[in-house]
Amino acid sequence: MSDLNNITSNFYKKISSVKSKEDLQSLKTEFFGKSGEVTSQFKSLGTISEDKRKEFASSLNKLKDELTNELEKKFIELEKIEINEKLKGEKVDVTLPIRPYQKGKIHPVSQVIDEISSIFSEIGFSIAEGPDVETEYNNFTALNTPDNHPARDMHDTFYLEENKKILLRTHTSPVQIRTMLNEKPPYKIIVPGRTYRCDSDQTHAPMFHQLEGLHVDKDITMSHLKGCLDYFIKEFFEVKNVKMRFRPSHFPFTEPSAEVDIGYTIENDKIVIGEGDKWLEILGCGMVHPNVLKNVKVDPTKYQGFAFGMGIDRLAMLKYGINDLRAFFESDYRWLNHFGFDPLDVPTNYKGLSK
Ligand code: PHE
Repeated sequence: MSDLNNITSNFYKKISSVKSKEDLQSLKTEFFGKSGEVTSQFKSLGTISEDKRKEFASSLNKLKDELTNELEKKFIELEKIEINEKLKGEKVDVTLPIRPYQKGKIHPVSQVIDEISSIFSEIGFSIAEGPDVETEYNNFTALNTPDNHPARDMHDTFYLEENKKILLRTHTSPVQIRTMLNEKPPYKIIVPGRTYRCDSDQTHAPMFHQLEGLHVDKDITMSHLKGCLDYFIKEFFEVKNVKMRFRPSHFPFTEPSAEVDIGYTIENDKIVIGEGDKWLEILGCGMVHPNVLKNVKVDPTKYQGFAFGMGIDRLAMLKYGINDLRAFFESDYRWLNHFGFDPLDVPTNYKGLSK
């Protein structure tokens, strides 16, 4: 019996100084391993006289349960300490200042597209889109520009295959065709998008952006076109008055056709849009040619409308005083940081577009 008492007190002494799971494991082996102290007591059962054996065995079992229990308790305790230590190491101080970071900016072209969309949505236009890779039919033929028409050469087209059936769209006008083929009249859409021509200098890039407008209904006249463009220019440049002139021009898909100039002056080396005696060409437009309507199965005796197309990059350059178009597409972070817009500055008409 005194053996068992010794074992117990020895065990408690040792377990109180255990600091790690490894220590605990060796303590377990010391008492319950093959030649452990408790194990040897079990082995000695056979040598004890029969009258004492029962009592001894029951004390031994009690001792075994007690010590096993203690080992388990200690294990859980050590586990808790270990987890807390780990959590301490992984603690994140959310009040610490963040590392210096580079803030993203909205590209002026994206900003201008948002501005334009906001302006036209106010007067009932919705936004339509089409693919950059187009068929020669949608880009030219359906737009009343048959084979061998000189306008085809003027566009410096990037053809994507030898027989010239697939190309990179040279203007956003094919989306007129797509929209009219897919929906019933009336149509009132704008189409902002990428366009491509084989051309590159300070004011031309092989990839550039256009904005197309199309309004077809039963009683649309050229004065609607004029009113619409007058509204747009004033809203876009955020000025009260804009001098505008329509010059006769030619596009195969409009008749009559016009090019629109707006008045401007130079003040302190800056272009001021609206007044003045200088003229700047900003867009092409006209009344949709009856042949175009026929090509999309819209009856030109019932419906007519206007269309216009303008260069978005040029509008952005004018509005935000950017003088080299090529910088738009160079992805120079310093440039973007200077000319770009805050992502939360979403343009809306009622707030003021660029304020
Ligand atoms: N698509 C013409 C161009 O790219 C512009 C335009 C559009 C003219 C619609 C008239 C009507 O030059």
